[in-house]
Amino acid sequence: MLIETDRLLLRPLATADLDEVVAMHASPEVVATMGTFDRATALARLERNEHEWNERGHGLVAILERASGRFVGRSGLKYWPQFDETEVGWVLRPDAWGQGFATEAGRACLEWGFRRLDVPYLTAMILPDNGRSIGVAVRLGMRPIRSDFLMELPVTVYAVDRPDASPQHRAPD
Ligand SMILES: CC(C)(COP(=O)(O)OP(=O)(O)OC[C@H]1O[C@@H](n2cnc3c(N)ncnc32)[C@H](O)[C@@H]1OP(=O)(O)O)[C@@H](O)C(=O)NCCC(=O)NCCS
Repeated sequence: MLIETDRLLLRPLATADLDEVVAMHASPEVVATMGTFDRATALARLERNEHEWNERGHGLVAILERASGRFVGRSGLKYWPQFDETEVGWVLRPDAWGQGFATEAGRACLEWGFRRLDVPYLTAMILPDNGRSIGVAVRLGMRPIRSDFLMELPVTVYAVDRPDASPQHRAPD
């Protein structure tokens, strides 16, 4: 799987991305909304992601800037069995914020997800005070559909319906 957008390349996130992922999640700006986790936990999550790609045919993606080839973050899809929903997510290195990369990657992942998955809608689960992430969701046409808990954290669940959804197959309001 490889998605090309105007400025980005998206390909499955892999255990080989461990150093980049650890460095990104060590930055204070990312810690502020995502908390900290150690290298072993990061590796375990990357291994689980590789497993999910093999099992489900989708998962998280690395975001590479086409112009430089550098790793600027990650996006992609994550199935949450406890909600029976698939989420699109985004995390960028702070030096890549403010250029629209998360919106560009998120839009490509939504389009890819709706083509590949028979789901009525896709979600984004966001801490209520994460204004930058809410900005991405809103730019992608997502709307808040409920408050919930993800791994014991209170989140607002944003959703966007598949473009050709019939009224019966929309996200619950
Ligand atoms: C959430 C996060 C990915 C958002 O990053 P971001 O850079 O604000 O979002 P985008 O990449 O969509 O960029 C939007 C900004 O780029 C600007 N921009 C510049 N060129 C642009 C373009 N071509 N297209 C769109 N926006 C552009 C927009 O005006 C906007 O600026 P503003 O924030 O000053 O209004 C980032 O803050 C992050 O990694 N946070 C930590 C991890 C996290 O919380 N993830 C979400 C968990 S739910």
